Amino acid sequence: MTTLTNIPLSVEWKDTHIRLLDQQKLPHETVFLELCTLQDVFDAILTLKVRGAPAIGITAAYGLALSAQGYESSSITDFQVRLKRDSDYLASSRPTAVNLFWALERLLSAFATASSVNEAKTILIHEAINIQMEDEATCREIGEHALSLFDKGDKVLTICNAGSIATARYGTALSPFYLAKERNFPLSVYACETRPVLQGARLTAWELQQAGVDVTLITDNMAAHTIQSKGINAIIVGADRITANGDTANKIGTFGLAILANALNIPFYVAAPLSTFDLSKETGREIIIEERGSEEVTYIGGQLVAPKGISVFNPAFDVTPNEYITAIITEKGIIKGDYRSKIKELFI
Ligand code: MRU
Repeated sequence: MTTLTNIPLSVEWKDTHIRLLDQQKLPHETVFLELCTLQDVFDAILTLKVRGAPAIGITAAYGLALSAQGYESSSITDFQVRLKRDSDYLASSRPTAVNLFWALERLLSAFATASSVNEAKTILIHEAINIQMEDEATCREIGEHALSLFDKGDKVLTICNAGSIATARYGTALSPFYLAKERNFPLSVYACETRPVLQGARLTAWELQQAGVDVTLITDNMAAHTIQSKGINAIIVGADRITANGDTANKIGTFGLAILANALNIPFYVAAPLSTFDLSKETGREIIIEERGSEEVTYIGGQLVAPKGISVFNPAFDVTPNEYITAIITEKGIIKGDYRSKIKELFI
């Protein structure tokens, strides 16, 4: 018995196009877009119609496979040049979530040995489908490991949306809540609304409510008081990029929650697949933090809430230093302590 039947897939390959759940329209409207061109895919990622690190990677992989189908080139070398150009274009849509680059690189290397354009086209579709299928299995494994950290009746706080629609299915940080629901294991979730664009209020609250998970919405500035007054037992978040030493980039506000967890003596967990690790970066200081348009801060729900012309700083992510992280939960298990060596071991 799954509790996910009410939650649509965020991305689906439909041979001639990609069917995408428009996450900008949620929770009021469930609208599906047909992405038919590389430009459609780029725009959907840039404008957060699809968001969440694994879902961005899956969509980009399908985007590259889709654009490849339109090339009639007879030379495989020419085809490779075009695909590299398209991949670079998609890679320029958002800078922080490493799954985007990981998925594109995986597709480019998958067809490197193809001897014909037709063979390469088929390989690209299969590889993109594999990435999506693997992510679903991975997220379920993350959920199993994460659930082992919680006791019956625990109250757990989260930020942003690291759920089913941010991945192939199940999510990362939200996966244990779906598994708990399947097993009648009582857990309550407190979801931070996640300003500026409210992924917590619009997406996490919607997803968990659809699945019948006990979820309570709070504004971001209520976190400290809620941890104290409601007896929150743990915080769990997703990740956009984890460096070789365990420093973790995730939605803006995550670092503040990690500081709160440490000050108030509750565990702070990061849940992420291996595809979110970037071993080419030693520490979080090397991660590029995306800055987005000022209107995300000055407007709420299409309504201007700040004086016109105000100067705005709008970083989409922050980096939580490894010392604030109690454990990192991956599909291969739970690591804590000496992250540098434990992360290395994950990739052996
Ligand atoms: O800007 P977003 O909505 O793409 O940011 C998403 C997050 O920060 C998520 O927590 C992260 O990508 C993990 S999704 C499983």
